[in-house]
Amino acid sequence: MKPRRRWHALLLPLLAAGCTRVSNDMADQPRYDPATSSPAFADQQATRPPVPGTVAHARGDVAAMSSGRAAPTDEVAAAAQPPDSEGLRLRGHERYEIYCLPCHGARGAGDGEVVRRGFPAPPPFAGAALRATPDAQLYAVILHGSGRMYPFADRVSPADAWAIVAYLRVLQRGSATAGAAPPATGASR
Ligand code: HEC
Repeated sequence: MKPRRRWHALLLPLLAAGCTRVSNDMADQPRYDPATSSPAFADQQATRPPVPGTVAHARGDVAAMSSGRAAPTDEVAAAAQPPDSEGLRLRGHERYEIYCLPCHGARGAGDGEVVRRGFPAPPPFAGAALRATPDAQLYAVILHGSGRMYPFADRVSPADAWAIVAYLRVLQRGSATAGAAPPATGASR
């Protein structure tokens, strides 16, 4: 049995060398860069068109963004504002607590935990300026950001942005009850 074992010992480095060679071949293999030409296809294009029925993975308002900043305002604003309702305000309250409360505070006074730790304070929602701000503009601020506030289009859907706008109005009225407590079970989700 001894000679056989020695043969195995030889085989191992051979296999390892084989691996290295294969991986180099993979790195150096011939390939086409995107959007170059190729004689291999009738249309001379190396980049092949998607097969019929292909569904784009990223599309809609946030498809073109690279850092959370969405498409131009008028494109995003195309999502219609739903009529005000208890359900809408509840949804807005829930989303507000997730995305806005850390800076704007539970009552929208601009005194959230993040601000208490040094982030610039946002203006209070109940102030005259934001009371006079049209719904569509609040909606756009949520999706596109404003000044030092970053955009939320990559995590808040247009429908939820309208829900948050409805809840901002609740905060502005200073009403503690209308649409106040989101169901603890998350039933509005
Ligand atoms: C990281 C902290 C932070 C978060 C989170 C945040 N904001 Fe703001 N927000 C700010 C700051 C700071 C300003 C003031 C921006 C400025 O003037 O530079 C602001 C301004 C605003 C304004 C006024 C904009 C204007 O043009 O007058 C609105 C409305 C607003 N935020 C709504 C929201 C809503 C709704 C959410 C949740 C979806 C949210 N913000 C999340 C920090 C934040």
